Amino acid sequence: MIAHIRDTPLPQAGRAVGIQTIGMTMRFGSFTALDNVSIDIPAGTFHALLGENGAGKSTLVKCIMGFYHQTSGSLSVDDREVSVQSPRDAATYGLGMVYQQFTLVPSLTGAENLVINRTHVPAVINWARERKDLAAFMERMPFKIPLDRPVSELAAGEKQKLRNRQAALSRPQLSHSRRADIGADTG
Ligand SMILES: Nc1ncnc2c1ncn2[C@@H]1O[C@H](COP(=O)(O)OP(=O)(O)OP(=O)(O)O)[C@@H](O)[C@H]1O
Ligand SMILES: [Mg+2]
Repeated sequence: MIAHIRDTPLPQAGRAVGIQTIGMTMRFGSFTALDNVSIDIPAGTFHALLGENGAGKSTLVKCIMGFYHQTSGSLSVDDREVSVQSPRDAATYGLGMVYQQFTLVPSLTGAENLVINRTHVPAVINWARERKDLAAFMERMPFKIPLDRPVSELAAGEKQKLRNRQAALSRPQLSHSRRADIGADTG
């Protein structure tokens, strides 16, 4: 395992972080999926990443989130270069991702999906307390989602809202979200 020194202070709860990539390049064998991409996303701003299928949008986000380790290039959070080895590592820097698909377990309820998705899940889950916390969390949300029904029974819009809640619950300070028209997922 590669040890690295954390040189960026952990984000404060509720405070947005900015990110920059410099020369991000990702090769799969001899194929270059991402070629020298530099972006700057200031804290608290919204950006759309547009490109045709296969352009490299997901690959860029996966490199930022630590799913992939870029072939070359660097990532900075709040102007300090960081080494993100895994999505869990990314979460500690305040980076989150709302996934395109396959992130909800259809046979589990909304509540169960929210809890198992958290960055830190205890070996033994205190469901009574989790339900109370989730109910309090939902009270603060602008829309309601049924939490006691299996996800397979939810409408497409409710599933999308649940995915967004997953990201909000892990309290990232920067969140990547795919397009909302989930019926048009392409992978
Ligand atoms: N793990 C991988 N191994 C090999 N090639 C890959 C891998 N992941 C992505 N690619 C290739 O890299 C290129 C970029 O893929 P990517 O998924 O980033 O595109 P995208 O812009 O997100 O497309 P879409 O709009 O379809 O989601 C594609 O040609 C894809 O086939
Ligand atoms: Mg994609």
